[in-house]
Order: sequence, then C-alpha cells, then structure tokens
Amino acid sequence: MAELAEKIEILADALRSSQRVAVLTGAGASQESGVPTFRGAEGLWKGKNPMEMASMEAFLADPAGVWEWYDWRRGQLAQCKPNPGHVALAELESKVEDFLLVTQNVDGLHQAAGSKKMVELHGDIWTLKCVKECGYKTLNKSPSIAKLPRCPTCEEYLRPGVVWFGESLPEEGLIQAHAAATQAEVFLVVGTSAVVFPAAGLATVARRSGAKVFEINPYPVQKKTTTVVLKGLSGEILPQVLEKMY
Ligand code: OAD
Repeated sequence: MAELAEKIEILADALRSSQRVAVLTGAGASQESGVPTFRGAEGLWKGKNPMEMASMEAFLADPAGVWEWYDWRRGQLAQCKPNPGHVALAELESKVEDFLLVTQNVDGLHQAAGSKKMVELHGDIWTLKCVKECGYKTLNKSPSIAKLPRCPTCEEYLRPGVVWFGESLPEEGLIQAHAAATQAEVFLVVGTSAVVFPAAGLATVARRSGAKVFEINPYPVQKKTTTVVLKGLSGEILPQVLEKMY
C-alpha cells in the first residue's frame, strides 16, 4: 500500500497526462470552510429526517418553518469562504483541456473560488425560484430573508433553488455530468459519502468507461470503484496534488 505522498504523485501524474478530467464533490469538500456535512457525527441530518426540511411536502405543510431552516443555513454559509481545496480545483480547471466539476454542494463556494466549468447537480441555495414553477428565478445573496418571499410574477411563495428529495435533478446538468464521467480519463471523487443517486453512481460509470478513479476522503467510501484512495482532507491533499503537477 503506497503512502499518501506517493499517491499524491500518482494522482498528479495521472492528471498531468490526461486531457479529459471530471471531478465529483460533496459536502466534505466544504467541511474545512466550516460548512457542516450532511451525515456523520456533526452532520446536518444527524437525528433529523431530511424529508422534514428538504422536500416539497415539508414546504407545502410549513413554508415558514422550512424557510426558517434555510435562512439559518444561508446565514451559516454566508460566513464561509472557499478553502484551499476549492482553490486547487479551480486551478485544475485551467490546466486540463476538457474539464468538468460536478458538485452536489449548494453553497456556492466552488464559484467563489473561481470554478466556471461546473454543474451544480443539487442546485444552489442562493437562488430563489417560484414554487409553482412559473419560471421566475432570482439570485438573492442576503444571509437572512426577513419574511416568506413571494414571486413577483404570480404571487406564489418563492422557494430555495435546491433539489429536494423526491425531485428530479436538472436534466441538462445530469446529461453533462454523465457525459463527462463516460469520457473522463481521470475521475476524482472528493468528500462525498456517495449515497444519494444519481451522483453516487457517476464513479462507477466512469470506471466502467475506462477512467482511473481517485477518491479523496478521510473515511473513503468508493473502495470497489476506486483505483487509488487518498485518505485525508481535501483542503490539505488537493493543493499538494496541484503543486506536484508542475
Ligand atoms: P455527506 O455528509 O453524506 O458526506 C460527506 C463526506 O465527506 C463523508 O464521506 C466524509 O467522510 C467526507 N469528508 C468530511 N470532511 C472531509 C474533508 N475535509 N475532505 C474530504 N472529505 C471529507 O455529504 P454528501 O455526500 O455531499 O442532498 O451528501 C450527498 C447529498 O446528501 C447532499 O447533496 C444532500 C444530502 O442529503 C440534498 O440535499 C439533495
């Protein structure tokens, strides 16, 4: 079993010699920015049923309660800054010919770090959209939404622009993510417990299509699919990988 330093070299070599790279990130990629993950001891879902907060049923039953929870999360996220892992991924984008970052995170920290070639599979917490899907959407970066926001077009409630349980993922983004996984020479999985599909299946798609799959996680989960596991924190490992690339 190679040591971490050796694995960092192996990943850096693979990235250097690849023209098509795809990266999947989850809550762990933002953990070092102070964003709580979903599962695990400090996770947001610990002792909570996600359906009680992140579902249309919950919103329709208690829009103010659900907004209160999202307001609390937006307030938390507004304090957070990209960490060196986010920055390294933004830098990687500029070094690879064909690159796609697929994130399950809704916190906006990848964009804040400068990532552009990306797909937000689970939406974005800073977007507000009409609950009746009249088409109205707006960006609202205010950390606190004073009262239940209403759609200026049709007067219905506005809801957070995230994908809730039971909802479909954005079709265009899913197609892009799937294509990138199919075509990637290197597929890098960062900080996800890989339990929520379809994102969770992308590493397997990549592996079956011939990609080398790498995972960065202090508690790796992709053992069957992964070529190389780098056990540790993405904010520490990714900058070292980028440094070794050149
Ligand atoms: P999870 O909370 O399920 O998993 C976070 C993963 O990150 C775990 O495997 C941790 O070991 C790992 N981790 C923690 N700190 C890390 C660090 N500093 N560096 C690298 N890895 C670290 O979060 P997700 O996999 O993102 O969906 O969860 C997937 C989806 O489930 C979320 O997008 C959300 C949630 O329900 C929706 O809200 C629709």
